[in-house]
Amino acid sequence: MTNQHQHGDVVVTRPGALRFADVHHVYGQGASANPVLGPIDLTVPGGEFLCIVGASGCGKSTLLRLIAGFAPPTQGSIEIDGREIVAPGPDRGMVFQQPTLFPWRSVRGNVELALKLRGYPRDQRRAEAERLLRQVGLGEAMDRRTYELSGGMQQRCATARALAGDPEVLLMDEPFGALDAITREHMQQELHALWTATGKTVVFVTHSVDEALVLGTRAIVLGGRPGHVLLDLPLDLHRDAEGDTHHDATYADLRSQIAHAMDDDYQRSVREAPR
Ligand SMILES: Nc1ncnc2c1ncn2[C@@H]1O[C@H](COP(=O)(O)OP(=O)(O)OP(=O)(O)O)[C@@H](O)[C@H]1O
Ligand SMILES: [Mg+2]
Repeated sequence: MTNQHQHGDVVVTRPGALRFADVHHVYGQGASANPVLGPIDLTVPGGEFLCIVGASGCGKSTLLRLIAGFAPPTQGSIEIDGREIVAPGPDRGMVFQQPTLFPWRSVRGNVELALKLRGYPRDQRRAEAERLLRQVGLGEAMDRRTYELSGGMQQRCATARALAGDPEVLLMDEPFGALDAITREHMQQELHALWTATGKTVVFVTHSVDEALVLGTRAIVLGGRPGHVLLDLPLDLHRDAEGDTHHDATYADLRSQIAHAMDDDYQRSVREAPR
């Protein structure tokens, strides 16, 4: 998928472009200040499927929260389509690392609530929630309570909720981390199909190098202290009929480049750890 397409003489850029300029983030203040991110300078064209990999604690979730607008970066700025991000907004939807569905509401009720919060007209919420739930394969489970769902179904519901209001950017924080291998593979294929169908920008955090290589159009390795971009790789792997990219001739090389960057970061963190 290209990020630009020709429309007459005008080059139309896809929506959902992100720009990070000298972004830093520090938790705490004074003696307890903990700088976790920065500097981050990055341009993400609209429609990109960006995978962020990196060791636990390197700041991946923090970076997603900054894009979501839950907190401002302590320094620098993040823009979406040229607008500075200062708060959460309907142009971004988030799937969290921990499930955050409301157990007292039905599957449909969870998505309807997200539509309400995004200002969706009351009389259209039900139909739109049902459309989104069908899109993620939950058409048969709309009336169930979310605690009755399997882990994979809960993540589908969370994805439908994040898609409420048709955001340009979908932020996903290790959404498949707790799933068994087979379910995870199915969910990856479904997410790839969703991305192809919608053309949304996806920022996807994962621990898994293989997951990044099966899903991403680009992978960045985050690491160091504070966390910054150690490696930035474009990905353009060929997928077979099953959606698999393993047979691509560049797979092994890309995999080892990413793994090396993560290994180097790990060795450095062990050397630099306070004794
Ligand atoms: N709300 C917070 N207040 C203070 N420190 C925080 C907060 N959230 C995260 N941190 C610290 O910031 C650093 C980065 O955390 P973050 O959750 O972004 O890492 P991560 O890369 O997502 O890790 P994981 O892979 O384990 O999810 C960690 O050292 C963490 O302890
Ligand atoms: Mg995290």
